[in-house]
Amino acid sequence: MNKMTLEALKTELCEYLAGAAAAYFPSAVLPAKEELEAQLKASLEYPPDPSMGDIAVPCFKLSKILRSAPPAIAAKLGEGIAEKLPFIEKAEIAGGYLNLTISGRFYREGLLPAILDAKEKWGGSDVGRGKTVVIDYSSPNVCKPFHIGHLGTTVIGHSLKLLLEAVGYKVIGINYIGDWGTQFGKMIVAFDKWGDRSATEKRGVDELLDLYVRFHREAENDPSLDDMARAEFRKLENGDERNLELWKWFREISIEEYKKTYKLLGIEFDSWKGESFYTDKMPRQVEKLRESGLMKQDKGAWLVDLEDYKMPPCLILKSDGSTLYPTRDIAAAVYRKETYDFDLALYVTSAGQSLHFAQWFKVIELMGYDWADKLVHVPYGTISVGGAKLSTREGNMVLLRELFADAIEKVDGIIAEKNPDIENREEAAEAVGVGAVIYHYLWNSRIKDISFNMEDALSFDGATGPYVQYTYARTASILSKAGELADAQYSPGDYQPNEYESALLRQLMLLPEKVAAAIEGYEPSVITRYSYDVATAFNRLYQSTRIIGAESEEVQNFRLALTRAAGYTLKSSLGLICLKTPEKI
Ligand code: ARG
Repeated sequence: MNKMTLEALKTELCEYLAGAAAAYFPSAVLPAKEELEAQLKASLEYPPDPSMGDIAVPCFKLSKILRSAPPAIAAKLGEGIAEKLPFIEKAEIAGGYLNLTISGRFYREGLLPAILDAKEKWGGSDVGRGKTVVIDYSSPNVCKPFHIGHLGTTVIGHSLKLLLEAVGYKVIGINYIGDWGTQFGKMIVAFDKWGDRSATEKRGVDELLDLYVRFHREAENDPSLDDMARAEFRKLENGDERNLELWKWFREISIEEYKKTYKLLGIEFDSWKGESFYTDKMPRQVEKLRESGLMKQDKGAWLVDLEDYKMPPCLILKSDGSTLYPTRDIAAAVYRKETYDFDLALYVTSAGQSLHFAQWFKVIELMGYDWADKLVHVPYGTISVGGAKLSTREGNMVLLRELFADAIEKVDGIIAEKNPDIENREEAAEAVGVGAVIYHYLWNSRIKDISFNMEDALSFDGATGPYVQYTYARTASILSKAGELADAQYSPGDYQPNEYESALLRQLMLLPEKVAAAIEGYEPSVITRYSYDVATAFNRLYQSTRIIGAESEEVQNFRLALTRAAGYTLKSSLGLICLKTPEKI
């Protein structure tokens, strides 16, 4: 048998089953062979308990076209299958199911070589080749702090980028920073009143944040401040030189700060074109809307009525002629289509913005852009810390930078106790601290509202980043201890994997499907949970079986190859959810 993935196994299996159906039921009117094969493949299931086999073929739907009872069909299709297909070990009929057990030979000769070949790219494919996806994510608002509310968009967005790249798409990551808007008017007023140039140079974004918080505090008692802020922003929009210079400066300070956090996360963007970039791109779209007659005036403002679609109207221009958030998004989408000719455009934001996206997506459609259906909003739930309500204006926001620093410091303390002589301590503490936060966050399906708990995130036991990263380091340490033995070429003999080995292999083979499922649902948590299953299966094997010093050289060679394959799988899956995998922890 040559190297072979689960996908290839399923393809061959269904080819066989389609052929068997035709041969055993000659009088049935079957769909075209490829069609039948595709239907069969889509219907395959994994039995909940491995004692029932590894793959189940449900025969209920076939019953109609084959005009037989499902158990009879299962019996016929399963007849002699293990003799004919080397990757099947045995077949059992259970009700209307044909339950198949995958052979040790498939794991030894097919799967293991396939993983060892793919290395840390295991799980990838090229189904997306030739297609382009743009992802709009992270996108913090300049002058406001980069806080825990941005964790979701940042790590979900980046995981989706990595997942799509792994299956061959060209992906453009866009940080659509909020670098335009009335907050700049507020900042300019605050800076003029209470700001200090050298303090701002020194303290950077912290100073900006203090000014921002102070503005809101004082504006509560002095509403004239808001009028002043509006006037300063108007001046900025009209190109006032001094205000433009301040704007640029505030923007730079903020970006510099964001970049520190992105570096920690290993994130780089392909584009930083923020809201300000679209200032001169909006008039063309507003004109188009006007000409199409879609826009109507209401109390001075211009809007697109969406009553027919059961949504409130989409605001395009305020009564003073200034543009709004949807106006900019419309212009940006057109620009991105013209620039990247995307096949798909994703927008990762909190679920609080769902209506906004539904509205302007609809406007794009009404404008006649035939790519409107390529726009997808990927929403996520809220995050709270210790149950407290967080607010930028109150100044009690948990900053991402501080959250990560706290995690790194705590992990460093744990490592100092567990493994004081480790040479890469700083690197390990950073990777595990940051990884713990991400993993904890990406464990839940994205739409769920979650409460962040640092202690849970940092635990080295249970479903945590540190646990899975530690398991990876364990595979690395076994391989390094085995030295030359581990480097020896893997040669499949005829060793029959034991229960722990089969259980691990059964997990490892799933990564390509998990990647596909994560992309299908825009759901990185599929990978987070999977990585935990792999780590658990590996640790069970490790605790029950001798890897180095196994009963024979052949078995040892097999187990070391399996350890290597588990390491690749862990590295690949953790990498897809933005986690690093230090060799030593
Ligand atoms: N800056 C916005 C915010 O922090 C998110 C932008 C999302 N992207 C977009 N194209 N609207 O709420």
